Amino acid sequence: MTPQTAEDYKDRFLKHLSQTVPGRKEMVITRASGCRLFTPDREYLDMISGIAVANIGHSHPEVIEAVERQIREYSHVNVYGRFVLAPQVEIAERLTRVAPGDLDVAFLTSTGTEANEGALKLARKYTGRPGYVAFEGSFHGRTYGSLSVSWRDRYRDGFQPLLEQVTFVPFDDLDAAAQAIGPETAGVIVEPIQGEAGVRIPADDFLPGLRELCSDHGALLIADEIQGAMGRAGHWYSCQEWEVTPDIITVAKAVGGGLPLGAFISTREIFSTFLDPPLSHVTTFGGNPVSCAAAIAAFDVVERERLAERAVEMGENMRKGFDVMMEKHDALETVRGLGLWWAFDVSPTENAMAVVAAMERRGVIVGSMLNADGTIRIAPPLTVTTAELDEMFNALDNALTELAGS
Ligand SMILES: Cc1ncc(COP(=O)(O)O)c(C=O)c1O
Repeated sequence: MTPQTAEDYKDRFLKHLSQTVPGRKEMVITRASGCRLFTPDREYLDMISGIAVANIGHSHPEVIEAVERQIREYSHVNVYGRFVLAPQVEIAERLTRVAPGDLDVAFLTSTGTEANEGALKLARKYTGRPGYVAFEGSFHGRTYGSLSVSWRDRYRDGFQPLLEQVTFVPFDDLDAAAQAIGPETAGVIVEPIQGEAGVRIPADDFLPGLRELCSDHGALLIADEIQGAMGRAGHWYSCQEWEVTPDIITVAKAVGGGLPLGAFISTREIFSTFLDPPLSHVTTFGGNPVSCAAAIAAFDVVERERLAERAVEMGENMRKGFDVMMEKHDALETVRGLGLWWAFDVSPTENAMAVVAAMERRGVIVGSMLNADGTIRIAPPLTVTTAELDEMFNALDNALTELAGS
């Protein structure tokens, strides 16, 4: 693509694509590979993995090969569940093999919000109860059920009425959760580490405490692992950091290896509720065989290359790099992370977007958070090298120096 063609695409984008963030976009992507994104005239280091998707890097050769092979055999053939399709069996077997406890069954979807919709329905149908408990700071998706359990009035107000019986309690506050969970609670939905709230890591007793509360009250614990799965936080599922077995786990994003695939994973017993009446929950494209083939390849790369362990090792380099930055820059307020899932807070808050822009000018892509103004995310592919981390810290260092001087 020539730079002139790229300019033309920018104008046509504004004409024909629905925008949820106003303004002209400056990057026309022509190619992505590993940790790199390419435009017609330069390359960028992607330090957010397409928001926690490219855990094995962009356009991994094994994913490409698997997709090519599968699409030659078949792609979509019928609505999910009608036929036995080997790619669906293979990925469900893998996702459940590494899941804690007896979470042996997966319902495959296309996206994260769909996985959460399914989980919310499953909890209601299984328990026969109407209510949900969710957490301040949470993000679970933008369709109606997911939005109903997602925090932040600015994203909810224009879409009311949402599901009514949802109680929000402060994250990492077991006393508040204990007050909210009761005989009407079908499910408690929680991101074990809150992503869009700014990579909030709870105290060690929080998730085990929630597990106990749910068990005591007969409510289902739903762990939204849509950002946290596939090695991001050093485990297949981030709840494994606290050795907790939820009743339902939801996944998407990195699971598909770059193609759309999600799942909600639970026990055979809980899922049996979807048999009565038959077809209680269906989807046309959920578990698309081509997406499943990509997912199998991605899963096998994470497993073979021990990328979860690698995330922990590289996370140590990240911590060291941030220690240096914290010493040097007053604008860096706080930093936190686990594995290769990090965030830092910029002071003053209004400067965060300027930091994102200054790093982009230096060829490094970082991003803001939906539910944490002033916070910047760093979640590179788990294949990131120390040289690439150095490159990112260099850009951050320069960006913060530039802002301090302006
Ligand atoms: C924790 C969490 N849950 C759910 C979702 C929604 O996933 P999707 O955008 O695939 O619908 C996201 C997306 O960012 C997420 O981060």
